[in-house]
Amino acid sequence: MNYVLLFLAAYCLGSIPTAVWVSKGFFGIDIRDYGSGNAGATNTFRVLGPRWGSFVMICDSLKGFLAVKLALFLPQFADNDIAFLNIQLIFGIAAVLGHIFPVWANFRGGKGVATLFGLVIGISPWTALACSGIFLLVLYLTRFVSLSSILASLAFPVFILVIFNVDNHFYRVFAVAVALLVILTHQKNIGRILKGAENKVPIFKNRDR
Ligand code: G3P
Repeated sequence: MNYVLLFLAAYCLGSIPTAVWVSKGFFGIDIRDYGSGNAGATNTFRVLGPRWGSFVMICDSLKGFLAVKLALFLPQFADNDIAFLNIQLIFGIAAVLGHIFPVWANFRGGKGVATLFGLVIGISPWTALACSGIFLLVLYLTRFVSLSSILASLAFPVFILVIFNVDNHFYRVFAVAVALLVILTHQKNIGRILKGAENKVPIFKNRDR
């Protein structure tokens, strides 16, 4: 029973629609009616500025991190590394699904990247650091946050399977699944990139000079 309650708690935690509540609470608008229409950190950065974008990024990442830590309420797993990791992954993905389909915001949430990032920090900070490196490199080269998110997510299973050679089948399947999930949530961005219509962030723009 505890599993089900904690899974629901992780989903409810992930469902906290930070970008929607910030935009409605402080600006009287719904972020989903502006910019890319996404209820995430990037669109908040775009519409409400870097301070609020960073705030949403931190809160949305914390949701994934804290969801993973809910597994600590199940001490019976503490002696079994693989089972403990798997239950952390399950609670983390509940939070990511909550972020994408939030019960507190009509099931119209974000694309899951920040919450997924928090999840990976909670499980494997080195993997999170490696994926951040890919994200920043692609962002520097292209200035597309969406493409950076997609490639960093695709790098996640590569790190798990090839570089860190993780010996846990569930974790391997999980890593591939979340990479596919991020591609799915970025379908509109991919379409815009292919049409040359995707937004670029205005950072690193001195490279154009
Ligand atoms: O994490 C979301 C980001 O990859 C894309 O956001 O607002 O440009 O669709 P956005």
